[in-house]
Amino acid sequence: MSDFLPVAKVSDIPDPGKQLIEVADRLVVLFHAGGKFYCIDDVCTHDGGPLSEGDLDTAAGTISCPRHGAKFDFRDGRAVSMPAIQATVSHEVKIEGENVLVRLND
Ligand code: FES
Repeated sequence: MSDFLPVAKVSDIPDPGKQLIEVADRLVVLFHAGGKFYCIDDVCTHDGGPLSEGDLDTAAGTISCPRHGAKFDFRDGRAVSMPAIQATVSHEVKIEGENVLVRLND
């Protein structure tokens, strides 16, 4: 498992909001919702759609894939609607002062 890496400032991303970021050559999406940050891969497990370009629903806690509409829980990467059935990878996030840090999971 990798170390926590600084990826953004808390103030960089509005709440609610999301941002595509690159961490150690991997594209991930950082979410800010309800005062917390979450991070998942920018990859839909149905057919590789870019989740960073989908619609965010903070009330439901989901991001929709822009390609065929599968929804994922952005808090843990779970697939919550078809056509995706497998979770996308979620990553650990912590806040230190103004800094948002992410530790990638495999
Ligand atoms: S690629 Fe995401 S729903 Fe098909």
